[in-house]
Amino acid sequence: MAVANFKGGSGKTTTAAHLAQHLALAGYRVLAIDLDPQASLSALHGFQPEFDVKRNETLYGAIRYDDEQRPLSEVIRKTNFPGLDLVPGNIELMDFEYDTPLVLASKESGAVGRTFFARLDEVLGPVADQYDVVVLDCPPQLGYLTMIALCAATALLVTVHPQMLDVMSMSQFLQMMGDVMSHLKKAGGTIRYDWVRYLITRYEHSDGPQTDMVTFIRSRFGRHVLTNPMLKSVAISDAGLTKQTLYEVERRQFTPATYDRAMEALDAVNGEIEALIHKSWGRS
Ligand SMILES: Nc1ncnc2c1ncn2[C@@H]1O[C@H](COP(=O)(O)OP(=O)(O)O)[C@@H](O)[C@H]1O
Ligand SMILES: [Mg+2]
Repeated sequence: MAVANFKGGSGKTTTAAHLAQHLALAGYRVLAIDLDPQASLSALHGFQPEFDVKRNETLYGAIRYDDEQRPLSEVIRKTNFPGLDLVPGNIELMDFEYDTPLVLASKESGAVGRTFFARLDEVLGPVADQYDVVVLDCPPQLGYLTMIALCAATALLVTVHPQMLDVMSMSQFLQMMGDVMSHLKKAGGTIRYDWVRYLITRYEHSDGPQTDMVTFIRSRFGRHVLTNPMLKSVAISDAGLTKQTLYEVERRQFTPATYDRAMEALDAVNGEIEALIHKSWGRS
């Protein structure tokens, strides 16, 4: 499942982290992959991208085109959550954005370059049967890293903060994604999603313009918008300051009502996604 949108701050990483942890706590075997050179997902799981993740220890090690490429299994790390493993990221992931156009342009690289979009899908193959769900946290742009995630994914979650500029930026993202997808399909890429959903993030009920934007988004995307929005909560942002999720902080650190409201919203969102996963597996 890819969590994508090229708007930074739309809540991709927060959503991906809480979803991956929720699923792991529920007993699924989960692999979270950090595709963002800024590596917030890694940091949230205790891997400081500058200190704890050395050269060739990110996803880049597994998807690079040269002979230093290594199996994905070698860059997978255990997290403190039983059942949740993570492939960390750091700034070296940027090299994939530079390498890919060179490989595409070079005559020698042949098929490897022409099928770059299948890169992630290919390297996931050997570990696929060790996991029930793979959560891909995309960078905030529609570059090659996001493309390989969109091609490897079988489900897509687009996070959207309900504000005018964010929604305009999302519509650009969707348009560009449509263009890119049709090119990739022509090149032989297979893109088939069991489901695509929009998740309203950082929503404030009391904010009139936001509520209008939510109404607008729902009128446009209908049932493709998750019924439950993720509410804006200081419990989430404060937990983030100490690189934690709501599942890690203690309830007594917060006003109980604040914590409970955030947890309730989170459970509702994650529950809805879990139901979509079950449906795609053919379970009710
Ligand atoms: N539901 C929420 N309530 C409060 N703050 C949030 C919420 N979701 C995300 N944030 C904060 O918003 C910022 C951006 O979120 P993030 O998930 O990193 O976005 P992205 O990955 O799309 O760039 C972070 O500081 C995060 O703590
Ligand atoms: Mg992010």
